[in-house]
Amino acid sequence: MEKLTMSDADYGALARAMRKVDFFAPLNVGELEQIVKYIMLCRYKAGETVFRQGDPGDAFYIVHDGALSVRVKTILFFKKQVARLGAGDFFGEMALLSRDPRSATVVCEEPTRLFVLLSADFGFMLKKSPAFAEEMRKLAERRKFMSRQDKR
Ligand code: CMP
Repeated sequence: MEKLTMSDADYGALARAMRKVDFFAPLNVGELEQIVKYIMLCRYKAGETVFRQGDPGDAFYIVHDGALSVRVKTILFFKKQVARLGAGDFFGEMALLSRDPRSATVVCEEPTRLFVLLSADFGFMLKKSPAFAEEMRKLAERRKFMSRQDKR
């Protein structure tokens, strides 16, 4: 993983990605600006693991570009893909909301760039906007349910 300096175009893409997601809508421009300052842009190689199932959760991720596979352990060392994520998708909310370990391993399938928001700043968004927090919780529940269905 390599940390990149964000260009104006990257900030534009981040703003677009955030606008596309309804959850960010309750945050006003001032609040969004406050958050965006802390967001990092990181580059990953194809095949690189962002984090593993069971790791502690320390950040939330928005996909700038590339493709990722979300994999859950089944039995022994077998893993099953439960989702594929691409530009504008986000992940990593579940461990931050529940304080449980990561529920899945996330691996880059292509060269991928991710916007990374550390857990304290994600917490700031949750605190600032109960509507954002509520939507994140609902999504985390849905994903948890989907992963459970897929494991069978
Ligand atoms: P977290 O548990 O922090 O780390 C793994 C992440 O993978 C999880 O948060 C979700 O963001 C994501 N994830 C888990 N299950 C699914 C799913 N079924 N569909 C999409 N994303 C998922």
